[in-house]
Amino acid sequence: MNKLAIMGAMQEEIEPLLENFENIKVTEYAKNKYYEVSLDGLDIVIAHSKIGKVFASLTATTMIEKFGCDTLLFSGVAGAVNSELKIGDLIIADKLCQHDLDITAFGHPHGYVPGGDVFVETSKELREVAKEVASENSLKVIEGTIATGDQFVHSTQRKDFILNTFKADALEMEGASVAVVCDSLNIPFFILRAISDSADMEANFDFDEFLKSSAKISADYLIQIVKKLNK
Ligand code: ADE
Repeated sequence: MNKLAIMGAMQEEIEPLLENFENIKVTEYAKNKYYEVSLDGLDIVIAHSKIGKVFASLTATTMIEKFGCDTLLFSGVAGAVNSELKIGDLIIADKLCQHDLDITAFGHPHGYVPGGDVFVETSKELREVAKEVASENSLKVIEGTIATGDQFVHSTQRKDFILNTFKADALEMEGASVAVVCDSLNIPFFILRAISDSADMEANFDFDEFLKSSAKISADYLIQIVKKLNK
């Protein structure tokens, strides 16, 4: 690993990451800010993409192609689909899918377009390191499927569709697009989320209340993972 990319979607998701660094070099590019820092000799680029799959794809691609990052970690919040996941709980994605990608009219499965796959897997090596860090720090972390779409999900109907169609454990709005970019460009990547809401009728209230605290839970764990990776 020569240069590490760390992404979030929202400013609130990268703020608790940036707090760990001094001497931050800010570069503006493609209507976004990129924060270059270093940790014990490791060069790191941090950015929030803005919400959704298009912005997340742009930022992931920029971090890889313009800044030369060769490993990518994502930190942020998600809505729970698996009823065992409660607010503040951590989930690492073993695979991700796009729940709103739909050409079923032509007989294809949900989440599939020709040339792609329904599910994209994350790096097993990075997951193993994350699990080691979790057990050393007695953190409870679930490994599971994350479904991504350009929708803030706040209904049991949509949530049940995502559960039944993809057997997803959590949902959010960026992960699978970052996964497609990294997989296509051969960049090992890892998607971490802490639960902010349950994607039900209360979701928008819970999200507002727990965005900051859950983002911090995710960021604190991610920083521990980065330190372990850099050992
Ligand atoms: N991220 C956090 N909660 C979410 C929700 N309910 N829908 C989509 N993305 C989210």
